Amino acid sequence: MPVRRNLQKSLVSTLLCAGNLASAGLVYVSSYSQTVTTLNYTHGQNTGIQKLSPVSVSQSCSDNPSWLTLDHADAILYCIDEGLNTPGGALTTFKTASDGSLQQLGQVSTPNGPVSGVVFGNNRHGLAVAHYGGSAFTTWDVSDPTNLKLVQTINFKLTGPPTDPDRQDAPHPHEAILDPTGKFLLVPDLGMDLIHLYSFDPNSLKLTSITPVSVKPGSGPRHLAFVVKGSKTFAYLVTELGNTIIGYEVTYPKGKIQLTEFFSIPSHGPGPAEPSSYAVSEVVLSPDTNYLIVSSRAENSSTIPDFDNPSQTIPSDPLINFKICPDTGELELLQVVPAGGQFPRQFSINQEGNLLAVGLQDDGRVVFVDRDPATGLLGGFVAYADIAGQITSAVFDQADIKP
Ligand SMILES: *[C@@H]1O[C@H](CO)[C@@H](O)[C@H](O)[C@H]1NC(C)=O
Ligand SMILES: *[C@@H]1O[C@H](CO)[C@@H](O)[C@H](O)[C@H]1NC(C)=O
Repeated sequence: MPVRRNLQKSLVSTLLCAGNLASAGLVYVSSYSQTVTTLNYTHGQNTGIQKLSPVSVSQSCSDNPSWLTLDHADAILYCIDEGLNTPGGALTTFKTASDGSLQQLGQVSTPNGPVSGVVFGNNRHGLAVAHYGGSAFTTWDVSDPTNLKLVQTINFKLTGPPTDPDRQDAPHPHEAILDPTGKFLLVPDLGMDLIHLYSFDPNSLKLTSITPVSVKPGSGPRHLAFVVKGSKTFAYLVTELGNTIIGYEVTYPKGKIQLTEFFSIPSHGPGPAEPSSYAVSEVVLSPDTNYLIVSSRAENSSTIPDFDNPSQTIPSDPLINFKICPDTGELELLQVVPAGGQFPRQFSINQEGNLLAVGLQDDGRVVFVDRDPATGLLGGFVAYADIAGQITSAVFDQADIKP
C-alpha cells in the first residue's frame, strides 16, 4: 500500500514542521525606570494570552535605559542609558546567559542623550551610538567589554533655521545603522532632516564623512531598515514629524554608498498625508525579507481588551504591515493591526518570523503578536508582560536578521 505509506509520511512531516514552529526565546526589555528585564516565551505551545513574569531583572544600566543592542555571537548585550535627568548618558555591557541573567561587565559615561547603537568593525569590536539629546555621534572600541574606550565624537550643528522650531531646535541623531555590506554607518537626524553617512576603517574604527542625504524639510528622519533583493538594495526611512516612509535605492558608486529616493508615501501607505500629531517610530524587516512593518504612535486608532482586565478596553496605536515588491522595492499595504497599546516606540521580530515583541512605552507593557511567516500576516496577541516604567526596547536573544 505505497500510497497510504506516503500519506502517513507526509502527515508525519507536517506534524514535525508544526512542531518546529514552537520556538523558545528570551527577550530583553529596557525601561526608562532603571530596569533591563529578561522575559521567556515559548510560542506555539500555549492557548490564550499568557501573562509572563520576568525571568531576571537588572538595575545595572544606570537610570534611563533607552536602547539595547545585542551581539549574539559574543553573548554581549549593550545597554544605552539616555540619562534623562543628568548631563550625560551611559553605556553598559552585560554578559548574557541561558538562564536569562545579565552580568554587568563594564560601564562608561557618554555624551548626553544616547538613544541607539550598532556594532561595527572587524570582529564586531566597535559600537556606534546616536545621541539625540547631545546632538552627537560617537564611536567606541568595545573589544574589551570591561573597558570601553571612546574613539571619536562628532558634534553636529544646525546649518539653517529649522522647519519645525519646536522639535528641530537642534540636531537630533536618532539611530545608528550599519549598511548590508557592513562598510558604512548611517545616522538619521530628526533635527537636521539629514541622514549622515560615514565609511570607516574596520580596524582603527576611524570615521570618514560622506556627503549626507537630505530629506524633505520638516520630515524628522528617525529610523531606517535595509533590504537586499537579488542584485538590488533598498532602504526604507521612517520620518517621525512628516509621518512618511521614504524608499531609497542603494548603490555603491566608486566604493561610496549612495541613496537615491524613489518614493515617499504616508506611513499608512499611498493616500492623503497622515495627521502631524501622529509619530511614526520603528521600521522592521521580516526575516524572509518580504515584509516591512512600521509602528506609529499617538493615533489611538483602535480599542482592544485590556490585557489585565479583559472586560475593560484600552486604546491602541497601530502596526502597519507592508509587502515589499521584490523587483521594484515598492511597498504594498497588507494590513493595519493594533500594536497592543499606546506608543509602540520599538519592536522586534524573531528569526522564525512567527512572533513580534512590541514595547508599549506609555502602557508599561510588552506584548507578543502572532505572525504567519507564510503569508506575512500579523495575528492576535499571544502573551504580555507588565513592566514598570516607559518601555523603550524589546529584543530577542538571537542573531541579527540579515537584510
Ligand atoms: C524558558 O522556557 C522554556 C520552555 O518553557 C524552558 O524550557 C526554559 O528552561 C526557560 N528558560 C528560562 C531561562 O527560564
Ligand atoms: C489616547 O488615549 C489616551 C487614553 O484615553 C489619552 O490619554 C491620550 O491623550 C490619547 N492620545 C491621543 C493622541 O489622542
